[in-house]
Amino acid sequence: MKILVTGGLGFIGSHTVVSLVQHGHEVVIIDNLSNSSLDVLDNIASIIGEKPEFHQIDVRDKKQLAKFFEAHQDIEGCIHFAASKAVGESVEKPLHYYQNNTNALVYLLRELVKIPRCGLIFSSSCTVYGQADQLPITEDAPVKKAESPYGNTKQISEEIIQDTTKVSDLQAISLRYFNPIGAHESAKIGELPKGKPQNLVPFITQTAIGIRKELSVFGDDYPTDDGTCIRDYIHVVDLAEAHVVAVERLVDHKNKGQFEVFNVGTGKGNSVLEVVKAFERSTGEKLPYKIADRRSGDVVAAYADTTKANLELGWKAKLTLEDALKSAWKWEQSLH
Ligand code: WQD
Repeated sequence: MKILVTGGLGFIGSHTVVSLVQHGHEVVIIDNLSNSSLDVLDNIASIIGEKPEFHQIDVRDKKQLAKFFEAHQDIEGCIHFAASKAVGESVEKPLHYYQNNTNALVYLLRELVKIPRCGLIFSSSCTVYGQADQLPITEDAPVKKAESPYGNTKQISEEIIQDTTKVSDLQAISLRYFNPIGAHESAKIGELPKGKPQNLVPFITQTAIGIRKELSVFGDDYPTDDGTCIRDYIHVVDLAEAHVVAVERLVDHKNKGQFEVFNVGTGKGNSVLEVVKAFERSTGEKLPYKIADRRSGDVVAAYADTTKANLELGWKAKLTLEDALKSAWKWEQSLH
C-alpha cells in the first residue's frame, strides 16, 4: 500500500513511518519541518535501509497540497499527524492551533475525498475525555468540554472528519492516544521537545542527563494512592504498530463503519511518582525531584479501556513502562 504520512518527521510520525515500511508498505512523507528536521529522515533511512519519499509541504498551504495530490493519485491511505500539540502553548496561541490543526485538516480532507475510498487515520487524544467519570475509559465515554484549545481542536477535528464521511466515501479511524513515551530501540529516532519539555518523560530524561536541575512534580495532593496524577503511558513503538493495523483495516475494507474510534493505550495507569521510581529502577539513575504546585488543566487520572482495540483491531500493547523509560533514557544519552 502507498500511504501518505503528514507530519511524518515528528515523534509519533517517524516511528510510524518505520513500522509501515517494516510491514512492507510504501510511504510518502510530507512535513513543514516546523517541529522537526531533515536529520530525522536520514535517521529513519538508517533504520529501514531506504529513504522514504519526502516533500517539504505545509498542510496549511492549499496550493502546495493540491499540487502534491495531483502528482500522487495512487495514495490509498493517509495518516495525519501534522498538527501542533502543546497543551500550554495552545492556551497562549489559540488561533495558531485552530489554523494549524483544524483549518489544515479541512484542506487535507478536500484532497482526500477526491481519492475513491481513501482511508484516513486521525491522530486524536484521550484529552477529548477530560476527567472521565469512569475508569478505565471506554470509547463511548462522553466527550467533555475541552480544557484547552489543543484538546478542542482534537474534538472539532473528529467532528469535521465524521461529517465528511457522511457526504463522501472517505473511510476514517480516529486513534485516541493516551500518553506516548519512549523511543525506537536503535536510539536513532525519539522525542525532540523544543525548549523546556512540557511532558513528563522528556523532562525526566533531561533531568537525569543534567540539562534540568530537578523534576517538579505538579502536585501530590490528588485523590490517588500517592497523591500524584495517574496516566496511561504507552510505548511509541506500540503506538506506531496500532497505526499500521488501523490503516490496513481501512485499505483492506475491514472497517465496520466509515468513522471508527479506538483508544490506544496500555490499559494500565501509573502515577507520576511510580514513573519516577520505575525510571530510577530501570536505568539505575537517581532522579532529583521536588513537589510543586498543581498544573492547571491536569486531570486526576486517565487510563484506557483497550478492549475495543484488542478485539476489533487485534492490536495490544506489548512493551512495558520500564521498556519505554529505558528506551527514552538511551535516546536522551544518544543526543548528548
Ligand atoms: C503527565 C503527568 C503532569 C511534567 C498531554 C496532552 C496529551 C498529549 C500528551 C500530545 C501529569 C505530570 C508533567 C512535569 C509533572 N499531548 N508532570 N511534571 O498532560 O497527561 O498529556 O501530553 O501529544 O494530549 O494532554 O502529559 O506528560 O504533560 O503530564 O509532574 O514536569 O505528569 O502533571 O500528571 P498529559 P504530561
